[in-house]
Amino acid sequence: MTPSQRAALRRDPIRHIVWRKDRLEVLDQRLLPRRAVFVTCRDARAVARATHDMVLRGAPLIGCAAAYAMALAARRGRLREVLAAEPMLRAARPTAVNLMHALDHMLAVARSGPESTLAARMAEAAERYRQDDLEANARMAEFGARLLAPGSRVITHCNAGALATAGIGTAVGVIRAGWLTGRLSHAYACETRPYLQGSRLTLWELMKAGVPSTLITDSMAAHVMKTERVDAVIVGSDRIAANGDVCNKIGTYALAILARHHGVPFYAVAPTSTVDMATPDGARIPIEERSPREVLEIFGAPIAPRGARARHFAFDVTPASLVTAIVTERGVVSPADEAGLKKLMSPR
Ligand code: MRU
Repeated sequence: MTPSQRAALRRDPIRHIVWRKDRLEVLDQRLLPRRAVFVTCRDARAVARATHDMVLRGAPLIGCAAAYAMALAARRGRLREVLAAEPMLRAARPTAVNLMHALDHMLAVARSGPESTLAARMAEAAERYRQDDLEANARMAEFGARLLAPGSRVITHCNAGALATAGIGTAVGVIRAGWLTGRLSHAYACETRPYLQGSRLTLWELMKAGVPSTLITDSMAAHVMKTERVDAVIVGSDRIAANGDVCNKIGTYALAILARHHGVPFYAVAPTSTVDMATPDGARIPIEERSPREVLEIFGAPIAPRGARARHFAFDVTPASLVTAIVTERGVVSPADEAGLKKLMSPR
């Protein structure tokens, strides 16, 4: 990769969370791509609500927003207000461990000095947390692109792009780096029912970046793998257990099974803030279950008979045995197993 390509991976991060010292402006991703509207969060409670309600989403971005929420809670220089905000933020969404990672980090910063410097330390730490994620994205993009043969055609799921992170994205970062370097020629994006992160967000990002891309419904992935050339499946993750099981948006597991059946490598791209060595395997990852209404309706319009029952599992777990490699900012783990992750996560 040339120095200018490397610079491109770090340039112009999207402005979807804007820190204004007394508030956090959050781009409402529920309205994209039709409208760009910002929601103003003046305290930690408002950030927790925005996170729960999917105004902002994507594991690394949820972590960054929580870091700023802790900085908001610290504005009056009172440690007890920070300690009170933390459990409320932690409860905003259960699956993405980046939220817990960010809160643990910010709690440690809060306790590391006197109250007289609390507000300044927390604001600075939140900013640094976001910068670290941006840099991690660029590194993953470069590591991941190297796994692709020139001209590769890939499938991705959900949105693991700039909108889900502080940088170029995880899976979408690899796709964009692949396109920049000629290693990727085409990306299919699954629409990702029921929230449509693939069609609304990933397609929007890929088209803006000029990456040749095609939208497919989730149920078309098998047919596409059978009838078109697909060289890799590339996804993000919300939590990776110590044994290499990968939790990601609902539908990812099905895609991994299809990939194995068709002999296609399956790559999970995630920063080390997504790796949870305290959770031994995927069965212990809490899977968020959201309102059935989100399945029974699309943009408020009913798509099932009145009174129909539905479930909305927001995530699933892909067993490590189906994962070809995990790409992180510290390097690539392959096979995806406990020994590899232990080595990756050991202090350096
Ligand atoms: O429910 P969401 O939209 O927050 O889920 C997002 C995903 O599942 C992403 O794939 C994951 O967070 C990785 S984002 C880099």
